[in-house]
Amino acid sequence: MKFTVNGKALTVQTDPQRPLLDVLREDLHLNGAKFGCGEGRCGACSVLVDGRRIFSCSTQVKDVEGKEVLTIEGLAIGEELHPVQQAFIEEGAFQCGYCTTGMIMNAVALLKKTPKPSSQEIREGMNGNLCRCCHYQKILKAVQRAATPGAEVRS
Ligand code: FES
Ligand code: FES
Repeated sequence: MKFTVNGKALTVQTDPQRPLLDVLREDLHLNGAKFGCGEGRCGACSVLVDGRRIFSCSTQVKDVEGKEVLTIEGLAIGEELHPVQQAFIEEGAFQCGYCTTGMIMNAVALLKKTPKPSSQEIREGMNGNLCRCCHYQKILKAVQRAATPGAEVRS
């Protein structure tokens, strides 16, 4: 199967029904996307496919044939973090960090679609990503900060 990962065109020979998450982690050694529930309920495995957030645990690799996959490893440009990554650091929007890559990838997709979301739109857009450390307020602030670069986000 041929598809693009983080801007690089790849050919992968594998069982087409394998989960994309397994191919990313085991074959391509891109370990940013995490295995959580394994059944599309937690968002830890979120990556973007053609700009849309998908759960890579429940997406077969054949379904991304010819498409562009973006993982957390493809967000930064050299040493320069993506604004969403930067905002998560500045807001301290993680504790154990297990959910963080999925949260960031979903936030990137959300802000691409809705550059200036309301708090409610953020809550709805981030639906499907769970944080076992219950860091939701900080995550909300991080997404708000990313939506207003350079601006102080008030609580
Ligand atoms: S591991 Fe994919 S949604 Fe939970
Ligand atoms: S920071 Fe621990 S699961 Fe979210």
